Amino acid sequence: MAVSRAVRRILRGRSCNVLASLLGHQRFLSTTFKASDLQVELTKDLKSKPDPANLVFGKTFTDHMLTVEWSKEKGWGKPHIKPFQNLSLHPATSALHYSVQLFEGMKAFRGPDKRIRLFRPMLNMERMLRSALRSCLPSFSQAELLECIRQFIHVEQDWVPHSDSASLYIRPTFIGTEPSLGVAISNHALLYVILCPVGPYFATGSFSPVSLLADPCFIRAWIGGVGDYKLGGNYGPTIYVQNAAAKEGCQQVLWLYGEDHQITEVGTMNIFIFWKDHQGDLELVTPPLNGIILPGVIRQSLLELSRKWGEFRVSERIVTMAELIKGLEENRVKEVFGSGTACVVCPVNRILYQGKNYHIPTMENGPVIAKRFLKELTDIQYGRVASDWVLPI
Ligand SMILES: Cc1ncc(COP(=O)(O)O)c(C=O)c1O
Repeated sequence: MAVSRAVRRILRGRSCNVLASLLGHQRFLSTTFKASDLQVELTKDLKSKPDPANLVFGKTFTDHMLTVEWSKEKGWGKPHIKPFQNLSLHPATSALHYSVQLFEGMKAFRGPDKRIRLFRPMLNMERMLRSALRSCLPSFSQAELLECIRQFIHVEQDWVPHSDSASLYIRPTFIGTEPSLGVAISNHALLYVILCPVGPYFATGSFSPVSLLADPCFIRAWIGGVGDYKLGGNYGPTIYVQNAAAKEGCQQVLWLYGEDHQITEVGTMNIFIFWKDHQGDLELVTPPLNGIILPGVIRQSLLELSRKWGEFRVSERIVTMAELIKGLEENRVKEVFGSGTACVVCPVNRILYQGKNYHIPTMENGPVIAKRFLKELTDIQYGRVASDWVLPI
């Protein structure tokens, strides 16, 4: 099947300047795989579908997987949808030794009309290609990958929960499979996609806030580094810090940067602060995409939504811990929340910083803005409100 009309519509008008600047090397001019070449082998052993209410994130997988192999000699192979199975990898595989690995995280939602929709999937495809080029893995057509994923979800459609709060999590993954040691460009690679049905992030009726450990000793990303790419190597080392936060009685990590303790991200989410500035004007602020912030799909969506509302100033600028603490002391802070595909928005109620607990009055303030974002975005994701941000399957 060719790239669907819906995917073409999303692609139209998009500039490929970023790519054009990165595609200089002959290696990245390799042809893409094509959705029209999809080979489908269906399993004979269909698993029973779980109750979405009892799902633990990332532990239940669907019946099939999507795979595409690449090698320097042969270029891209045909994409395959095949029974979910283990990978067979050479023990020297570059992904295992040097983290030549990247991934994406996105969701498919089933609406009250029973239709399945993807939320702004081209943003994930674009981010994935950026990550691939930064990892010296080969280029591919974002539209062709999206069309393969669309057809894959069509095959697995029964796995998309019938629920207004559960969804099907999509994990595109791209690994270097070079079967030799040596820190060098991989001449072999494997792109694959796996799917997990996931339950609601928040238990029904609750919008529970999280507490954060802000310890400047731990740095997630730095200028000139790769924190603004979704590479597996950015995540493994954070487990230790997450563990340190748990030991201090905090649920997540507030990542700081620089001598002035800039606020950057929270756990695996972008961060937003809604407060009054020194002049008493309302402002929604999130750190700028200056190389240490992952360009989140939800971050971009919240910025675009709130700018459309036009009710308060929306800023992308650096905010330090000192500024936040001053805002708290002067009772100017209304809401602090994380944003990401997993939860859409996640309120923050406490920050442990330099041995002192700071209460954040997010819940006392509604949280009006966080709840409004949650409602507007989930209405779009589940198709309760029409939007060109969704791609129907
Ligand atoms: C470090 C980091 N920041 C932010 C996000 C939020 O990104 P998105 O809104 O695309 O889920 C994620 C999740 O992908 C992440 O891993």
